[in-house]
Amino acid sequence: MKITNVKTILTAPDGIRLVVVKVETSEPGLYGLGCATFTQRPLAVATAVDEYLKPFLIGKDPSNIEDIFQTSFVSSYWRNGPVLNNALSGVDIALWDIMGKRAGMPVYQLLGGKCREAVPLYAHAGGSDFQEVEENIRRYMAQGYRYVRSQVAIPGYATYGAAGGGTPAFEPTPYVNTVIKLFAHLRERLGDEVELLHDVHERIPPIQAINLAKALEPYHLFFLEDPFAPEDVDYFQLMRQQTSTPIAMGELFNNPNEYVHLIKDRLIDFIRVHISQIGGISPARKLAAFCEFFGVRTAWHGPGDVSPVGHAANVALDLACYNFGIQEQHVFGEKTKAVFPGCPEIRDGCYWATEAPGLGMDLDEALAARFPFPEHPLNGGWAPVRRRDGTVIRP
Ligand code: CO
Repeated sequence: MKITNVKTILTAPDGIRLVVVKVETSEPGLYGLGCATFTQRPLAVATAVDEYLKPFLIGKDPSNIEDIFQTSFVSSYWRNGPVLNNALSGVDIALWDIMGKRAGMPVYQLLGGKCREAVPLYAHAGGSDFQEVEENIRRYMAQGYRYVRSQVAIPGYATYGAAGGGTPAFEPTPYVNTVIKLFAHLRERLGDEVELLHDVHERIPPIQAINLAKALEPYHLFFLEDPFAPEDVDYFQLMRQQTSTPIAMGELFNNPNEYVHLIKDRLIDFIRVHISQIGGISPARKLAAFCEFFGVRTAWHGPGDVSPVGHAANVALDLACYNFGIQEQHVFGEKTKAVFPGCPEIRDGCYWATEAPGLGMDLDEALAARFPFPEHPLNGGWAPVRRRDGTVIRP
């Protein structure tokens, strides 16, 4: 069996720019789908796949997943980075999909089989004030969710993860002070039965992040996410000595090696991996296995700019990895579900895998073509966030 074609499919059914790779084979009707969604630079990924990986891969045996990953990884000589890794991921996930279809098994079975029946999710609760966040959490709890990320608007300022506030400027100090009060409010009103999470989104100076993690300790978060920018990871050593608030990190890392010292030195508790950003299922499963030996758990990144194919890959890993921690949920829009038949189902606060072979996911190409990328002043780029004095912050 040989790879006969590799192509990218660009679509935005619910307004989010998605990139999916389709790998076709010499066996009639046998193909695989992989997620290559880098929503801020999708056209660069499409070029990497269509102009470079396609000619490199045609004629190769799709069974040799590991060899194809390793050879593609070095075929640019210079490697890593989100564009090339997303291109590798699109191919890698598609090859696992093909392998599963050939075996007549879901991908999670190829990875060792189920460690759990379904995948517990965390939902996103935002609000313009503490009361609204609390009500949104209660609404999720009533639907069966046990884990909720909580973000609140900052009076007079912008913030991440909650609408409201005031000016488009972000300021660290009012943010930190408000978040501490939010969690005091939530624990007092909600008690201990719900697990609460929070995403700092790397916006504050490192020492303020340490202060925040310490101040939140009495409210026992499930995790505090991205307290530092990737450039500041050496601060984890300092944070660990100061507080036992559990820490999640890594959605902006590209090379799996970036996680290694944080894991082996036991400086974080959860890996936040954007699966297409590190190159697909092959590197992700190795990283998860490495984490198991250090008591670090998985929390694969699951926003709307992971395609449904990427979410299906996350679910396969969630089911098969012993050291699963939690999965971020995305609620797929109706148009997205129509373009991608077989999206993982959400029930009782969990994802439930499609039991079909491979990733159990398909893509209606004719329908996908009816949802081109929307017009956007930055062509989909991340708009800068600034402080009151105009300084741009991360991110
Ligand atoms: Co995040």
